[in-house]
Amino acid sequence: MLKTTLKNNAVFVVIAGICLAAGICQKSSAEPGVENQPVSPVRQLMLSSLVPASSSVFAVANEAPKDAAEWNVVERNAFALADHGKQLLKMLPPNAEAWIKHSTHLIDSSTEAADAAKAKDADKVSDAGNAIYESCEGCHKLYLILPAHK
Ligand code: HEC
Repeated sequence: MLKTTLKNNAVFVVIAGICLAAGICQKSSAEPGVENQPVSPVRQLMLSSLVPASSSVFAVANEAPKDAAEWNVVERNAFALADHGKQLLKMLPPNAEAWIKHSTHLIDSSTEAADAAKAKDADKVSDAGNAIYESCEGCHKLYLILPAHK
């Protein structure tokens, strides 16, 4: 149960942490400028691809997939996440050393999650999910510069 709660919180923490750091969560879209912020390619990739794919993997800690079809969805999302990690390696910022480290960690842990999903091993998917989460956090700590702060 504790484990489950932790995993459940992981996605929330990533997003809440970002919101807190940015101080943008309470802002309404009516606020001038906010809705017109250009979306950077990295942010676009995060919101459209990394968030949904990682959520699918993180969700296994709360509730293991019920049948082969559900496991298959997790496996595909984990593979997609590894692919997104490869895309991140093509989007290097200045001082890319740690970026490469965290992207590589994301690729490796997502591949582990995909293998574990293939084997229908929920515990291993959860463990890989924790490692994935560390890569999100590790990179954000160093590189997350929000539009509001640019
Ligand atoms: C290699 C670095 C790196 C990794 C790994 C990474 N991110 Fe990001 N993420 C960023 C950067 C940089 C931004 C800010 C982009 C911008 O605003 O231009 C960002 C932004 C975001 C945002 C949008 C914040 C906002 O409101 O603008 C979300 C959500 C997010 N990441 C989720 C995730 C999740 C979930 C993972 C792990 C599965 C992850 N990220 C892994 C670098 C990374």
